[in-house]
Amino acid sequence: MKLPRTFYNYISYLGAIIAGIAWITLIFFVIQIYFFKIDNVYFDLWAFIVTPAFLVAGHVLIPVGMYIKRKKIKKGIPVSDEKLLVINLRDPKTRNAILIFSVISIFFIISTVVGSYKAFHYSESVEFCGKLCHNVMNPEFTAYQNSPHAKVKCAECHVGEGADFYVKSKMSGLRQLFKYNLNTYVRPIVTPIENLRPARETCEKCHWPQKFYTNALRKEKYFLSDSANTEMDLTLNMKIGASHQSLGLTEGIHWHINPDVQIDYKTNAKRDVIYWIKKTNKRTGEQVIYKNDEVTEKPDAIAKMEPRVMDCMDCHNRPSHEFRSPAKYLNNMLAAQPRIAAIPWFKAAAMDALKVMYSTKDSCMNAIKTKIVKYYQDSYPLVYKQFSKDINAGIELVKTEFNKNAFPEMKVNYQVYPRHIGHLESDGCFRCHNDKFKTPAGKKISKDCNLCHTILSQGKTKSPTYTGINGSLGFEHPVDIGDAWKETNCKECHNGN
Ligand code: HEC
Ligand code: HEC
Ligand code: HEC
Ligand code: HEC
Ligand code: HEC
Ligand code: HEC
Repeated sequence: MKLPRTFYNYISYLGAIIAGIAWITLIFFVIQIYFFKIDNVYFDLWAFIVTPAFLVAGHVLIPVGMYIKRKKIKKGIPVSDEKLLVINLRDPKTRNAILIFSVISIFFIISTVVGSYKAFHYSESVEFCGKLCHNVMNPEFTAYQNSPHAKVKCAECHVGEGADFYVKSKMSGLRQLFKYNLNTYVRPIVTPIENLRPARETCEKCHWPQKFYTNALRKEKYFLSDSANTEMDLTLNMKIGASHQSLGLTEGIHWHINPDVQIDYKTNAKRDVIYWIKKTNKRTGEQVIYKNDEVTEKPDAIAKMEPRVMDCMDCHNRPSHEFRSPAKYLNNMLAAQPRIAAIPWFKAAAMDALKVMYSTKDSCMNAIKTKIVKYYQDSYPLVYKQFSKDINAGIELVKTEFNKNAFPEMKVNYQVYPRHIGHLESDGCFRCHNDKFKTPAGKKISKDCNLCHTILSQGKTKSPTYTGINGSLGFEHPVDIGDAWKETNCKECHNGN
């Protein structure tokens, strides 16, 4: 087979080799995808992006080499026309060379393909995301393992499907790797993540607005900070959807994600204060704007802000990394450990010890122990004497819970990363539902205690009050604080300050 003289140069040879290997790889992937029906983003990425890139590069190099050589010939510069391969199959040396070359190439191609496939897989695994730079991701990784999404990979929420986001995430990963190695990353990691992939493309792969939830029961248990660690129960009937499936998302909490409704809002970087809200009825095009006269931000500053469209993450912002408050994790721990709950004043002692956060885990561990012991020795020495064994066991459990929910080295706890569902420890729903946002016609975004849930039972576990499934009790705050819970947001007393 004869080729033009200009072809015989090293650049074109290189191009031909790259193109050849790329063709073989491409055929390999196409067979996998079309004949073995492999539906996998990494295969897609290799087959449709990486390999074609090499293919194009190879094919571009061939004419580039030829062009350079032609120029040289025209200018009269001496060139070599030596052929890279003169194949004479009668020559045993050539035969051996071809055999060795083919075996090595095939081995090389297969191992590159398998290796890079594995590398891609690994770079998307929970181990890679959660453990590789252990101290940075430890808070999220730990919380994740205790979450309902513990079997969903980090990448399914943070990267999602498709090669474009894959490449984007690896690019930003590279930047993060630099910051990690130079130790210049911020602690805590900034939240909310501004360019997180929209919920539509991640959450809605597994949960979607048409997937209907009616009401759900939510049972809570509390232990007060008194001598008996008084146990209290609360049952809430959460009005997630309408009372019947056929009504769709016309009412209830998930009304916000009705495809016919769009809520836009303007907020600060942390999204904990809201300045302006717009409700659009997408069917009729009707729009209503809600304003809060008590907002301190200047009106022209608000006018300049970009609104954000409300989606799942504006409420479910901690679907996988929930950092609980000491009150919450102690309640859970005491509910599971009746022996510890029987130690007088234990909740109070533990709450007191968990008030301050030190800068390292070790100093926190020491402080928890010494403070609880000191609390008893100073105020209740007789209790300490009688229960010292149980108190020590309780201290160990408090430490374990602390380690699941607070991360001093990364400056992470429930106050830094608040959860927007509810309204107890951060404003959450009360960011908008505070009776202060009004339309020009005076319609409020309501804070009515029965708007989002009804109370089916409440009170001391020993003597609770009940109502029927369609009834609702008026809220009784567990300790007497008068009307303070009606007048101030719960957060003012409940977020530990
Ligand atoms: C169910 C979906 C989901 C999964 C699974 C998930 N995340 Fe997240 N993650 C989120 C959301 C949503 C946010 C954004 C919170 C916000 O913007 O307010 C977030 C935020 C983060 C942040 C920023 C800091 C913070 O806590 O807000 C880090 C870091 C993080 N995730 C790491 C991980 C790691 C590591 C894994 C796997 C071990 C993982 N995520 C798994 C949904 C998820
Ligand atoms: C890969 C699939 C997948 C993705 C993506 C996903 N989830 Fe989930 N989600 C699940 C599974 C599985 C459960 C557990 C269901 C169960 O326990 O019944 C769950 C449970 C939940 C629950 C109920 C939690 C509870 O306390 O029981 C909420 C709320 C939720 N997901 C929200 C989200 C949000 C918000 C996102 C996007 C940031 C998201 N999910 C992304 C699969 C997923
Ligand atoms: C960004 C602002 C915003 C946030 C945050 C918000 N809401 Fe709303 N919500 C609205 C608006 C606006 C309406 C419509 C008020 C009206 O009827 O004019 C509404 C209406 C509702 C309704 C009544 C729906 C109906 O018509 O039956 C419920 C229930 C509700 N919200 C629950 C919640 C819960 C629970 C949370 C917190 C997890 C929450 N909302 C957070 C803006 C918000
Ligand atoms: C207005 C705030 C808000 C928005 C927006 C929102 N949710 Fe919810 N969602 C809630 C609340 C509140 C609950 C009840 C949770 C509870 O009882 O703690 C809930 C419950 C759920 C549950 C669990 C139901 C169960 O039985 O435990 C899932 C799953 C869920 N939401 C998914 C989603 C997804 C997916 C989106 C986005 C398409 C979304 N939510 C948007 C507030 C919201
Ligand atoms: C805009 C919706 C909304 C309104 C209005 C509202 N709540 Fe709630 N409330 C919630 C949600 C959502 C939760 C569930 C929080 C969670 O999943 O942890 C909740 C949880 C609670 C809890 C249990 C708290 C916990 O974490 O153990 C109590 C108590 C409560 N609400 C009382 C009230 C009272 C009293 C009012 C009236 C002043 C009120 N709520 C008004 C949405 C609302
Ligand atoms: C003026 C301050 C104040 C306000 C406002 C307030 N609380 Fe409380 N709350 C307390 C105190 C004090 C306790 C007792 C804590 C203890 O014994 O450990 C308490 C205890 C509770 C408990 C039991 C907590 C636990 O984990 O043991 C719940 C539930 C509760 N409050 C709900 C609410 C709700 C819901 C609101 C808002 C509608 C609210 N509170 C507003 C001061 C307040």
